[in-house]
Amino acid sequence: MRIGFIGAGNIGGTLARHLAKLGHQVSIANSRGPESLTALAAEIGATPVSVVDAAKAGEIVFMAIATKAVADLPRGLFANVADSVVVIDIGNYHPELRDGRIDAIDRGMLDSQWVAQQIGRPVIKAFNNIVAKSLLEKGVPKGTMGRIALSVFGDSLDAKAAALRLVDDLGFDPVDGGDLANSWRQQPGTPAYCRDLEATALRRALTEAVRSRIAEYRAEEEARIRRYIAAQAAKE
Ligand SMILES: NC(=O)c1ccc[n+]([C@@H]2O[C@H](COP(=O)([O-])OP(=O)(O)OC[C@H]3O[C@@H](n4cnc5c(N)ncnc54)[C@H](OP(=O)(O)O)[C@@H]3O)[C@@H](O)[C@H]2O)c1
Repeated sequence: MRIGFIGAGNIGGTLARHLAKLGHQVSIANSRGPESLTALAAEIGATPVSVVDAAKAGEIVFMAIATKAVADLPRGLFANVADSVVVIDIGNYHPELRDGRIDAIDRGMLDSQWVAQQIGRPVIKAFNNIVAKSLLEKGVPKGTMGRIALSVFGDSLDAKAAALRLVDDLGFDPVDGGDLANSWRQQPGTPAYCRDLEATALRRALTEAVRSRIAEYRAEEEARIRRYIAAQAAKE
């Protein structure tokens, strides 16, 4: 498949590497332009392009940038992109650590609903709840004992099916989590967030999430990341 990446950092670069290795035709873009991606692109077997070209480059386009950066994307980026192109949002909103406060999300809009509103088209939410290291190292063939599962949320069944197939191809058990309105179940800090769970445990974790706790989950996750950063700094 032709797959575009808007964002080629930690998670975007990892996914792009993995997908290129699987034989997909991958294009990557960042905020600094294709020249800055020449070395990475050559290393992973991808094509460096502009953000505008990345949006047009694929049957699937990944949004792999910080939530605050979504508002900086060119206006009308997807205006001439076919409706059949599947946009997958893998971002997470981190208001204190990185993104600053986004009022609409703080008032209750879900992370990916806000992204969809900003870019003016529906998105699938997936791959936001696995860290890059697990994504790179823990994929295994279908049927392997202990295979990690990844859930996918979205309103279009066709688009969701495409994302679920990619999950499987990448070495993880695909789990249909439901529509985008339920995607809060895998936002930061929820029981299904970055726990590397198998399918049964993942389904249970998604069910156990409590909607009224979205902000609390997020704050707990940010506190956990802060503790992790402090512990790493103390080791240096
Ligand atoms: N890291 C993980 O393990 C992980 C896992 C799941 C989800 N996520 C989420 O995925 C998103 C990306 O995380 P990350 O860790 O990959 O971040 P990162 O390493 O900082 O990479 C961010 C990428 O986005 C690009 N970017 C920033 N602003 C842009 C813009 N306006 N237009 C185009 N590209 C832009 C950056 O390009 P420049 O360098 O040129 O600015 C860079 O390539 C975040 O929302 C994060 O929460 C991360």
